[in-house]
Amino acid sequence: MSMNENQPILSVRDLETMIETKRGEFAAVDGVSFDLYPAETLGIVGESGSGKSLTGLSLMRLLPRGIGRISGGSVELDGSDLTAIPEARMRKVRGRDIAMILQDPQTSLNPAFTIGDQIVEAMRLHRKPQPEGFMAMAVDTLRKVRVAAPEMRVKAYPHQMSGGMRQRAVGAIAISCQPKVIIADEPTTSLDVTVQAQYLRLLRELQEQTGMGILFITHDFGIVARVCHRLAVMYAGQVIETGPVKRVFDRPSHPYTQALLNSVPKLSGHQGRLPAIEGQPPALWAKPKGCRFSPRCPYADDRCRAEQPPVTHLGGEGRDRHTASCWRLLP
Ligand SMILES: Nc1ncnc2c1ncn2[C@@H]1O[C@H](COP(=O)(O)OP(=O)(O)OP(=O)(O)O)[C@@H](O)[C@H]1O
Ligand SMILES: [Mg+2]
Repeated sequence: MSMNENQPILSVRDLETMIETKRGEFAAVDGVSFDLYPAETLGIVGESGSGKSLTGLSLMRLLPRGIGRISGGSVELDGSDLTAIPEARMRKVRGRDIAMILQDPQTSLNPAFTIGDQIVEAMRLHRKPQPEGFMAMAVDTLRKVRVAAPEMRVKAYPHQMSGGMRQRAVGAIAISCQPKVIIADEPTTSLDVTVQAQYLRLLRELQEQTGMGILFITHDFGIVARVCHRLAVMYAGQVIETGPVKRVFDRPSHPYTQALLNSVPKLSGHQGRLPAIEGQPPALWAKPKGCRFSPRCPYADDRCRAEQPPVTHLGGEGRDRHTASCWRLLP
């Protein structure tokens, strides 16, 4: 790992991922760039279908076979471009250097094996056996993610655990090899809010101990406010604004970010839920020519509808850098 905490551990540049659909092949991740710094949590936010999960899966090179492929850009982790290394080497990197907690925890656990066996399996791939043995290390990892009675739980099968417990088990597998980067895709299965908050706090604590970078994928701005240092807002496969959470919340520069923030009652200080942004994000095969948000944007003019806006640097450097892609940036 880079010892300089002002150097990103992960640098994603112009990442492009194509998805095969009935209507043809389209870019679902359409030129995504961002950095992740050591001990930092970067929230990736956006409406359903904006390309958040596919961005995560692209970094892991775990795209659905025959359907998704990386068609451009780079993913630099610790000095090597993950899009360019052979699959055999990627298998070593996956889990050991970069791990992902998938959106659907059911698919991450094998119902036929105990939790202990599944943690051991992950460790066997990437870690040297310690004198106490992998199973004892697995117990220790479960203890780290606050699973009660870990000596007993290692012997449990996924169906014998509660939803929150299963999520911790998935987390235990992800951290078992002490990766530099963890991608956590917010679970779709509605976990109890308290359980969810505990889990996020836990990830933060582990981050403080290990310095790992966390990419937190969510559509919940409340969670971003609580657990993220920075955020990247995605719309139709692109990052349209990125910056420190406080700065972007106080002064969003992209009309889409502002609209998203306005629709969260607690953040905007309004009582009750405000109307969501009118209209729908475009389908993969029907993306507008200019700014992808222009058909829904109250400020859009002819240029917005004709040309894609460039990335504008609004201030700050490194972890403080604030950028937005818009022709009509908000003051
Ligand atoms: N396996 C797949 N086959 C076909 N299209 C897909 C597949 N996975 C994703 N897509 C399409 O790619 C686009 C981006 O999907 P992605 O799953 O990354 O969205 P997301 O931002 O994670 O949404 P959500 O918040 O609902 O999880 C969507 O238009 C989606 O329909
Ligand atoms: Mg998703």
